Amino acid sequence: MVEWHGFAGAVKRMPQTTIQRNRAKLRAYPEEVSMSEQLLQETARRAARYLESLTDRDVVPTDEAVENLSKFDEELPEGPSAAQDVLALLDDFGSPATVATAGGRYFGFVIGGVLPATLAANWLAGAWDQNVGLVVMSPIAAKLEDVALSWLLDILKLPAESGGAFVTGASMANFTCLAAARHAVLARVGWDVEAQGLYGAPEITVVVGEEAHSTLFKALAMLGLGRERVIRVPVDGQGRMLAEQLPQLSGPAIVCVQAGNVNTGAFDPFREACEIAHRVGAWVHVDGAFGLWAAASTEYAHLAVGVEQADSWATDAHKWLNVPYDSGLALVRDAQQLRGAMALSAAYLPQREKREPFAYTPEASRRARAVEVWAALKSLGRKGVAELIEMDCRHARRFAEGLRAAGYEVLNEVVLNQVLVKFGDAETTRRVLQAIQEDGTLWVGETHWQGHTAIRISVSSWATTAADVERSLEAILRIAQEQA
Ligand SMILES: Cc1ncc(COP(=O)(O)O)c(C=O)c1O
Repeated sequence: MVEWHGFAGAVKRMPQTTIQRNRAKLRAYPEEVSMSEQLLQETARRAARYLESLTDRDVVPTDEAVENLSKFDEELPEGPSAAQDVLALLDDFGSPATVATAGGRYFGFVIGGVLPATLAANWLAGAWDQNVGLVVMSPIAAKLEDVALSWLLDILKLPAESGGAFVTGASMANFTCLAAARHAVLARVGWDVEAQGLYGAPEITVVVGEEAHSTLFKALAMLGLGRERVIRVPVDGQGRMLAEQLPQLSGPAIVCVQAGNVNTGAFDPFREACEIAHRVGAWVHVDGAFGLWAAASTEYAHLAVGVEQADSWATDAHKWLNVPYDSGLALVRDAQQLRGAMALSAAYLPQREKREPFAYTPEASRRARAVEVWAALKSLGRKGVAELIEMDCRHARRFAEGLRAAGYEVLNEVVLNQVLVKFGDAETTRRVLQAIQEDGTLWVGETHWQGHTAIRISVSSWATTAADVERSLEAILRIAQEQA
């Protein structure tokens, strides 16, 4: 039976020989430093060494590093191990087998890095081990949700009275916002969907763009609204919904638009969608996983014009705000509709004096994600966030310019941070991609865009420098020539 004696005690209770071994390993530390502090200092030392290694390391792990993961193939240990030994195993064989997404040359999917202040906040919050479900469980975590939420609405230029939920990512944010939408549009016709479900409910018309993100369809599926039971609005060559093709609506309806197409970075026509939808009391939801952040920069805010007229917005903090995974945000203009969908039961509905975090999210117990969101906004400030967005967009334009100058076809208008490039036919493009991935200088992935097989470059990290872009561009062009 394991007996706990607090953090330091848990280390001290290890067999004497293990402690001695660990002490010997940690000779660099003064004797008076407690065991727990030694462990955390050792963690910091290892983590710093890891982050420093990303400057020169290949983005992908070596074959040897992946093979060495067999070190983790062991039977469940019968007895305890010293925390330092657990950490050493994790770092010695885990760190080399990571993909360097925290570095400056990872351009796959849409993946942000981790800002220093957010990593530090994440560590401290880990030590706090707060459950942010209720204010009484963690006044600080609840406070930071309040502060971060109001800062987010401010920086994204969304209505200040909106409610919000700190969830795992944009998938869950889409789900949460669409649950609020489902609640609201059915409540307007006298149907309580939380109490009665969808059995016998009035039908909801759901409108999406032809290029909506796959996770939006998953959210619709999870909510019983169906992946296929939707009206798909045709799009232009950049994936933007054609405003003139938006259907006239009647009855309960939800229109889903997008801020930032995952392939092209393009934005849907928000004003037109809101005008058509709001005429009949329909709900407009915006999937803005990364693109919503354009609103935080005066240079790019024009792309998001009209987005503030919508009823709900899903976005990620782990993408362009560069906080550690996982962190998504569901923002809803009428906080009561979000509470209506997410409160544990109708009994929880009456507004309390303070915002109880659990009344806005699918989960009851949950980690304090707002700590890192707050730290990102506090450390960057309004100006720093705008600079981060603008820097990454500048890097994306440089990629496009360098690729075009070398004669390769960039398929999209590079309006934001996404670049689509092809190297001739699908087979050649795939060959180039495979060689780039094997080379290790950078990482990019394959995508399919309106009949083309392409490589997608997404610049979303604070860590990417102009030198990273030049080094990556050189590698792409060298490999493309070799594979031509
Ligand atoms: C437009 C869009 N929506 C939703 C998502 C899903 O985000 P997450 O992986 O954080 O759930 C993404 C991911 O790239 C996206 O680009």
